[in-house]
Amino acid sequence: MGGPPARRGPLHRGIVFVLFAAPAAQFLAFCGPHGQQQQQPRQQQPRQRQQQQQQAAGSTQEVRTLRLAKGFGSGSSEEPLVKSEQEQWATKRGNQRSTDGVDFFNQAQDAVKAGEHEKALPLYRKARVAFGKAAGKGSLDYARVCSNLASTFLQLGNATRATDLYSESQEAFASAVGEAHPEYAACLRNLARLKRSAGDFVEAEALTKKAMNIYAGDLVANHKEYTETLKFLAAIYKETRRIEMVQPLLLEVKRVQGLAASMR
Ligand SMILES: *[C@@H]1O[C@H](CO)[C@@H](O)[C@H](O)[C@H]1NC(C)=O
Repeated sequence: MGGPPARRGPLHRGIVFVLFAAPAAQFLAFCGPHGQQQQQPRQQQPRQRQQQQQQAAGSTQEVRTLRLAKGFGSGSSEEPLVKSEQEQWATKRGNQRSTDGVDFFNQAQDAVKAGEHEKALPLYRKARVAFGKAAGKGSLDYARVCSNLASTFLQLGNATRATDLYSESQEAFASAVGEAHPEYAACLRNLARLKRSAGDFVEAEALTKKAMNIYAGDLVANHKEYTETLKFLAAIYKETRRIEMVQPLLLEVKRVQGLAASMR
């Protein structure tokens, strides 16, 4: 157990504490049910960046190893999967790519907000290329841009391309934040929604349960996503005529909602 010791107060006190302290809280907004969350690429003030670079000085070793690995190719001939901040901003070219990526990403988001999905599409595409080269295909920025591009394709009625891109973002999220993170869970839910629409209930159910378990790991921060996911699973059970499995899920929804209400 890695948590702080001797915090044995009532659960709701812990809830308030963690809601404000957990970095996960800042991702809550990204985990909405429709996958068009306003995901932000990391865009730091120069000074913040500098501080991070200083902090990252310890990882110079790692960066060197990555560069070496490039030369002794292990399959991926071009770019490493993830580049450190330091590495991205180290060269003029990398710097330009990162800046371009952020610019395209922001423009795309503005277009989405204005309901102009066709306009957003090429912008997200350009951002994806830029982030793929700047931060790498295993980076958080790349994961987010793939996810947003997928949502845009979905808006434009291209579920096939959306599925591919959500799958790609799943891999990138796994690499960037790990498979226990709420953003990874949100990605699983997006995929589950598409699988359900396509009539693939088995896969939809498997993905939904994985997402559910991730949220269950931190109900304090993710109770809303957790209950949404339970309801989604209940809907799958209904559609596949397993009515007896619906009620326990809805009871769990009530239980967690009650818990969440008691902390306000
Ligand atoms: C979906 O998008 C891809 C990539 O742009 C395209 O090749 C494909 O034709 C599109 N499919 C549909 C049904 O629009």
